[in-house]
Amino acid sequence: MPSPTVVLLPGDGVGPDVAAEARLVLELVAPDVVLEEQPIGAAAIRATGDPLPAQSLAACRAADAVLKGPVGDPEFDAADVRPEQGLLRLRAALDAYANLRPAVSADVDMLIVRELVGGLYFGASGVREDGTVFDTCEYHPDQVERVVRRAFALAQGRRGFLTSVDKANVLETSRMWRRVVDAVAPEFPDVRVEHMLVDNAAMQLATSPARFDVIVTENMFGDILSDLAAAMTGGLGLAPSASLSDVGPGIFEPVHGSAPDIAGTGAANPAAMLRSTALLLEHGLGRPAEAEALARAVEHALVATPTPDLGGSATTASFGAEVRAQLSLTGSAART
Ligand code: NAD
Ligand code: IPM
Ligand code: MN
Repeated sequence: MPSPTVVLLPGDGVGPDVAAEARLVLELVAPDVVLEEQPIGAAAIRATGDPLPAQSLAACRAADAVLKGPVGDPEFDAADVRPEQGLLRLRAALDAYANLRPAVSADVDMLIVRELVGGLYFGASGVREDGTVFDTCEYHPDQVERVVRRAFALAQGRRGFLTSVDKANVLETSRMWRRVVDAVAPEFPDVRVEHMLVDNAAMQLATSPARFDVIVTENMFGDILSDLAAAMTGGLGLAPSASLSDVGPGIFEPVHGSAPDIAGTGAANPAAMLRSTALLLEHGLGRPAEAEALARAVEHALVATPTPDLGGSATTASFGAEVRAQLSLTGSAART
């Protein structure tokens, strides 16, 4: 088999810092993988004027998987061309519609499945003559069905409990979402399914996160609830994600952003990026043993040398070094 290719998109702010640790770990546990680095976000705007240059996108399309740091820079917050547009275009171009965001702690083990290429993020938006500004939320039932079916299948392999989150008491798209969930449900008789309104879901996530197994929801609700789920399970520094399509390469990236408040200080926790790298090894390259070894090494480092967000004093680089030392110690590095 030819060597698999992974495109590394370091991104902005703390992105390059955590991406550097991901590169070193990947070189250790999967030395045969060809790593190709490309710009995205503010870094790409500065270099080319485009947050997703054609060359970056072409490399991602041709790769086996994409490992991405966060994008975003306050300098471009009010600009017409913004870093985040590059990310949204990449997700859409790769049709990475199923965004898996696990949130795990001592007593919580949940998986948020967020629809990633529809809804408010991709509907028509603009400004009317009278100055009214609008964003529209649109979904086709097929878009809902495919992500809901994935969520059912994932629940089947876990505790068999699916919570579908919507705002069906107000939104037309949510009532359709519910109908689709109910239509798919009979295909998965071993999965118990409930519907929950998004405001209640936020309350339940904050008060009894352990009740959840798999949550499936639309793009914007999933964005907000996944930060909350991360907060309930150790914080944004720990939360990874995998964005999968049915055909092409997946995108693996932390849930967190470019953290401009700590960029350049060495205080960023690389655990979310390293756990995203583990998800890449599992889902993107089909290497579950290496994924498991990396996940365990990250667990170890979180206890042994926590970063400032967890009350410790490890730096991004020293945390990464601890993860690699643990991988070498357990022989996981040599197995490949
Ligand atoms: P953020 O996630 O960057 O930061 C929120 C808080 O969490 C900050 O206090 C930050 O210091 C902390 N934090 C985040 N990651 C951390 C880490 N690895 N270690 C320790 N602490 C960490 O959210 P924000 O400040 O609202 O957004 C900043 C920029 O990031 C914006 O431009 C936004 O658009 C972008 N963003 C990008 C992505 C992505 O590329 N997937 C995700 C979220 C936000
Ligand atoms: C995320 C981020 C992105 C999103 C932004 C940067 C476009 O917040 O990945 O959660 O809203 O999807
Ligand atoms: Mn977000």
